[in-house]
Amino acid sequence: MRRKFIALLLVATGLVLVFGVATASETEQTSTVVPNQPPDGAEYVGEQTCFQCHGQSYRDWQQTPHAMAEEPVGCESCHGPGSVHVETAQSTDLSDPNSETVRELRQTIVKTVDAAVCGQCHAVNDAGERSAGYLPGTDLSAVFTLADPANEDVFWPTGHEKLPGTQYNGWVVSRHANALPTITEAGFAREECLACHSTDFNFQNPTFEQDVVTLENAQFGITCVQCHSPHGALAEPQLRFEAYDLCVSCHTGTDLGNNPIRVGGTVHHPMREMFEGISFLGLDPNPSPHFANEAYGPICSSCHMPQTVVIDEENSAASHTWLVIIPTDAAEGQPDSCTGCHSVERNPDNTPENLTFVIEDIQEDTMGRVEDIRAELDPIVEEQGWDPEAEEKSEAQLTAERIHTLVSFVEADGSWGFHNPGYADDILSEAEDLLDELFDLIEE
Ligand code: HEC
Ligand code: HEC
Ligand code: HEC
Ligand code: HEC
Ligand code: HEC
Ligand code: HEC
Ligand code: HEC
Ligand code: HEC
Repeated sequence: MRRKFIALLLVATGLVLVFGVATASETEQTSTVVPNQPPDGAEYVGEQTCFQCHGQSYRDWQQTPHAMAEEPVGCESCHGPGSVHVETAQSTDLSDPNSETVRELRQTIVKTVDAAVCGQCHAVNDAGERSAGYLPGTDLSAVFTLADPANEDVFWPTGHEKLPGTQYNGWVVSRHANALPTITEAGFAREECLACHSTDFNFQNPTFEQDVVTLENAQFGITCVQCHSPHGALAEPQLRFEAYDLCVSCHTGTDLGNNPIRVGGTVHHPMREMFEGISFLGLDPNPSPHFANEAYGPICSSCHMPQTVVIDEENSAASHTWLVIIPTDAAEGQPDSCTGCHSVERNPDNTPENLTFVIEDIQEDTMGRVEDIRAELDPIVEEQGWDPEAEEKSEAQLTAERIHTLVSFVEADGSWGFHNPGYADDILSEAEDLLDELFDLIEE
């Protein structure tokens, strides 16, 4: 395994071509087990056999809709055929869980967070059919072609899913699916970034050094099992946490418990802080009317996972593209993000045009104010050439830093004020007042 580590170093030094090939052929000669693919000759044995050694996983799995489905989705649907694993386990000395033999045993069964494992059943092709003959751990696209997002039998014109059991079709084009390249291509990524950008990082088993997931070897962005537990779960439908807690565990400006929302800091993704109106830099708290209405108010998924799969009058399923549907963008018969709650039946003013106007009006106003502040602030900062690391800062510099942090909070929330129009107004009003003060300070 030391060899693999050397190969990684070579990638870093650009010598990978020559040595990478040599390593691959050597591995072929020494072992028939390809990690995370079912071993050659493995056959299906059924979940009763797995139960003998994995009682807890079995009992947790029994509580899931998978186990209760008409044709149960068994262990081997996701872990691949298990006969070689079972035979190996029966003849392996398990006394030392950290031994090389136990590590080899683990490699005889597939354990992967790859969304393709779910996609083999939760996706359709252009004819509306599901995949056949897929083996977990292998490449789904080699045996199955996903429906074209322009296919209007499968998708609405907005790109949201129309047919049941198509979560993978939606997810695959979402930014969650691509969250890993975002950081690896950003150039300033650190190990901690993976906690919100990579599911294999979050569910790694670090018992063996070779299996530790790093920036170099992470493979997946945010996959299905980041949010859904395959065996047992805290919340419906098979969610690891209640939906709101799940979203705000990453969509928060307080980065893994650190609080970068301080004077001078650039705030990132403070959706939670904006929606809940959480106080920062001395502002008064100001929850959005949506968050404040605990009984009927929407949570993140109400607007970002609209129920675009309409099965019948009572049943529908949520989109996994995470894109909001603005009421006037919805096609005939397509649910949008607002009218499920703000229907014309409740209030005749709730026409698609009016609701869209509300959103666009808030966004245009917010965007305009942010642009105006930036147009004044940024040239001042450039002109003054302040040292951000200075120990003693002038009042003018501190004021400019405060304005920057306030505005970056509104920018990084991503909704241009819509998540909480009142709070966005409070924040921008404060920034505008401070900008007037800044002009006075600089003139002095
Ligand atoms: C004879 C006992 C035995 C049987 C039967 C058995 N396993 Fe295992 N399995 C083990 C042991 C021991 C390990 C390694 C320690 C651990 O991870 O719990 C393991 C590990 C695993 C892992 C983790 C692999 C990894 O990479 O960490 C999975 C997944 C798994 N087994 C699935 C199954 C499935 C599915 C079946 C039924 C087809 C099954 N096992 C049957 C003993 C068994
Ligand atoms: C819907 C797919 C799915 C089904 C069905 C499923 N698993 Fe898993 N299992 C996974 C995934 C994905 C992981 C890795 C992520 C995780 O640990 O949650 C995993 C992890 C495991 C592990 C390793 C746990 C650990 O902490 O490292 C074991 C053991 C296991 N499964 C056994 C089973 C057994 C036994 C069954 C049947 C009773 C089963 N699984 C059914 C998808 C599934
Ligand atoms: C072999 C096919 C198959 C595989 C593999 C599979 N599923 Fe499913 N899944 C189903 C079926 C069929 C149902 C519907 C069960 C029912 O409610 O009748 C289902 C139901 C679900 C539900 C619950 C829906 C509800 O309404 O409560 C969730 C969540 C889910 N799957 C997630 C996953 C995830 C995540 C994976 C991958 C780790 C996965 N599935 C892998 C076939 C599969
Ligand atoms: C594990 C962390 C994590 C969790 C949990 C999470 N997100 Fe995300 N989300 C991200 C990251 C990271 C991105 C940006 C990915 C990128 O651009 O590469 C993102 C992007 C998004 C986007 C932008 C989509 C687009 O295409 O413009 C929306 C909307 C979103 N998430 C909503 C949600 C909702 C709703 C939930 C809860 C159901 C949720 N997220 C749960 C980390 C997470
Ligand atoms: C607390 C969770 C979390 C951590 C830690 C995290 N991110 Fe993100 N990241 C997100 C979320 C959520 C988004 C989606 C923001 C949006 O859609 O506006 C995102 C989006 C991004 C984007 C897309 C551009 C943007 O701002 O919309 C980049 C680039 C990025 N992150 C880089 C990083 C880097 C580099 C690190 C480590 C230094 C990191 N992230 C750490 C949650 C996190
Ligand atoms: C009442 C509906 C609603 C609720 C609730 C809501 N959002 Fe949004 N969100 C929007 C709208 C509308 C936009 C702007 C979308 C646009 O302009 O296309 C947006 C924008 C975003 C964006 C930026 C999208 C992008 O493409 O970059 C992210 C990320 C996001 N919201 C995440 C969240 C999270 C996390 C929560 C929960 C804390 C949440 N939202 C709650 C309606 C909502
Ligand atoms: C960022 C978190 C997140 C990810 C990633 C995610 N889901 Fe979901 N999923 C949810 C939430 C939240 C719901 C409940 C939505 C609702 O009804 O409000 C849900 C609902 C479902 C359902 C139940 C159908 C319904 O809407 O009632 C299925 C099945 C499902 N997801 C499968 C998948 C599959 C398969 C993947 C990967 C391709 C996946 N999910 C990825 C958060 C996620
Ligand atoms: C899950 C239901 C739900 C969804 C989805 C939802 N809302 Fe609301 N909305 C509410 C409730 C409940 C209130 C009332 C808050 C109160 O007055 O207590 C509200 C209040 C409002 C208000 C008035 C706020 C104020 O200042 O009093 C506006 C405007 C609004 N919503 C627009 C939207 C738009 C636009 C969307 C779609 C992007 C949307 N809502 C999605 C439930 C929802």
